[in-house]
Amino acid sequence: MCGIVGYIGAEEAAPWLLYGLTKLEYRGYDSAGIAVFEGGNIRVAKAKGRLQNLVDLTHGGADFHGNLGIGHTRWATHGAPSDINSHPQTSELGKFAVVHNGIIENYLELREFLSQRGVSFVSETDTEVIAQLLEYYYTGNIFEAIGKTLARVTGSYALGILCRDDPNTLYAARKDNPLIIGVGQGENFIASDIPALLSKTREVIRLSDLEIARLRADSVEVFGLDFEPIKKKTEHITWDVSAAEKGGYPHFMFKEILEQPKAVADTISPRIRDGRIVLDELKFTREELVNLDRICILACGSAYHVGMIAKYIFEEMLRVPTEVTIASEFRYENPIVSDKTLAIIISQSGETLDTLEAMREAKRRGARTLSIVNVVGSAIALEADDVIYTWAGPEIAVATTKAYSTQLAVIDLLAIYFADLLGKLTPEEYAVLIAGLEALPGKIAEALEKKDAVQYIASQCFNAKNIFFIGRNLDYAMSLEGSLKLKEISYIHSEAYAAGELKHGTISLIEDGTLVVALSTYARLFEKMRNNILEVKTRGATVLGLFTKGGGAESSKADFALEIPQAPTMFLPSLAIIPLQLFAYYIAAMKGCDIDKPRNLAKSVTVE
Ligand code: F6R
Repeated sequence: MCGIVGYIGAEEAAPWLLYGLTKLEYRGYDSAGIAVFEGGNIRVAKAKGRLQNLVDLTHGGADFHGNLGIGHTRWATHGAPSDINSHPQTSELGKFAVVHNGIIENYLELREFLSQRGVSFVSETDTEVIAQLLEYYYTGNIFEAIGKTLARVTGSYALGILCRDDPNTLYAARKDNPLIIGVGQGENFIASDIPALLSKTREVIRLSDLEIARLRADSVEVFGLDFEPIKKKTEHITWDVSAAEKGGYPHFMFKEILEQPKAVADTISPRIRDGRIVLDELKFTREELVNLDRICILACGSAYHVGMIAKYIFEEMLRVPTEVTIASEFRYENPIVSDKTLAIIISQSGETLDTLEAMREAKRRGARTLSIVNVVGSAIALEADDVIYTWAGPEIAVATTKAYSTQLAVIDLLAIYFADLLGKLTPEEYAVLIAGLEALPGKIAEALEKKDAVQYIASQCFNAKNIFFIGRNLDYAMSLEGSLKLKEISYIHSEAYAAGELKHGTISLIEDGTLVVALSTYARLFEKMRNNILEVKTRGATVLGLFTKGGGAESSKADFALEIPQAPTMFLPSLAIIPLQLFAYYIAAMKGCDIDKPRNLAKSVTVE
């Protein structure tokens, strides 16, 4: 998703803008640009492709001389990636330059409105409409122009704005997309995310929806859309910049896979006190829980796969009907949601637009909303009735690993907590599950110890053209995530199937040498899975089986086998995901793929 930076201070702006953009590369982008106030004009440079192209074009920013500027990495939505469509976008007379993250939904209507009044457009972007509207409404008062422009646009935005008539001010505004202000000494900054700021300052202000910021070298002011000043809290960032850097590993993804024992421990341990789960952040009473007649889980991508696992676990342990719906579908359904529904919203970024809108829809229909989010202060976290943070730390690789695992950990915490509140667990069962939870980080570490075995198997499989993942129940939900991990970073075509569904069509695709990854960690269904493995082997498949230790690997007839530690059933997904992530990682590495930034993908999907 697009990344925004902005600088005002005493130093040359361009080199820092370029540096700041490198820290936002993880968001995914296809072009980049900067605009710097120089000699009474706003000077722009843009380049399609890698950020390095822009660095080369501007000689690392040395070509620019000015102390005020904005920069942008673009992930195309309206208009293909190109120099012209890159940001900053400028107005026709060059009075305004704008960088934008988000989507202006009514941009065609606004473009028509402006065209009829003689304004000419050069790009295909929705963002240009903002620059042009600013100029159209500008009669000497920049605030007035910003206010009138924002009143006309519908959609989402985080904006950085320069005006040629005001060489000492950087303007910013936000709605539904993140924007952070960095507060420095004699210099101030804006950025889409904190890692871009940390080399300069640890003092940040999070701009909220429908707020406008005015930054000068020595002041930061925030206003509402009514231009009344708003007092904002400055937050001190304690986590280290190295937490957001590769730390010696070849890829962020690998580093983040290895960080999972700690991330899961950080998420679980503060919430277990004296053998009991304490969720201070939840304001739930037992009565409120008893009154619920359904749980509906809303999420996208990997977070949706966490939701699928949650469905199995909640229905098994709570006996409350639980539905999991892809957020982008939920928005346009007529969902059965009422004030007896608990909507659980799962999102690493907390800014995924479809998920945010699905949550709003569930709220409108009366549901109580509980979000599971990694990014503190993100839109989903702020708008939900309750939020439980996953403490995974910043996740930089586009493909999620540690955030996924911490989401699973929160699902486990919630399931046990709710089951206990509902009186579904004996004290003995409760104690066993708490012990299981506490043991989880150690078992994840044990599963990671098998990485060399996974690497060897990956070396035998990385030329595969099609890979099928099969499993039943929890293992089916895991198959979906294993398959997604593989295809998104290695570009190998892969499908996940409920193992019992194979013979209803898919089995016709199995031929000599087709690789099938068969997940069979679920003891109750081992025999069924063994039959499915035989079915595909008979048709020529090569099978990589995933089992629990002592869980039948030898008798399965799989060509390759991997084992995970034994654990109570509800925790098995947290262990099974480890070899699947590693398998995807090693295959992608062997194929020389751009693992941390797979093509066409963005870390934070803030458009529909
Ligand atoms: C896949 C992946 C995506 C995200 C999805 C939701 O590896 O990372 O499928 O899970 O885009 O993102 P969040 O969790 O930020 O809402």
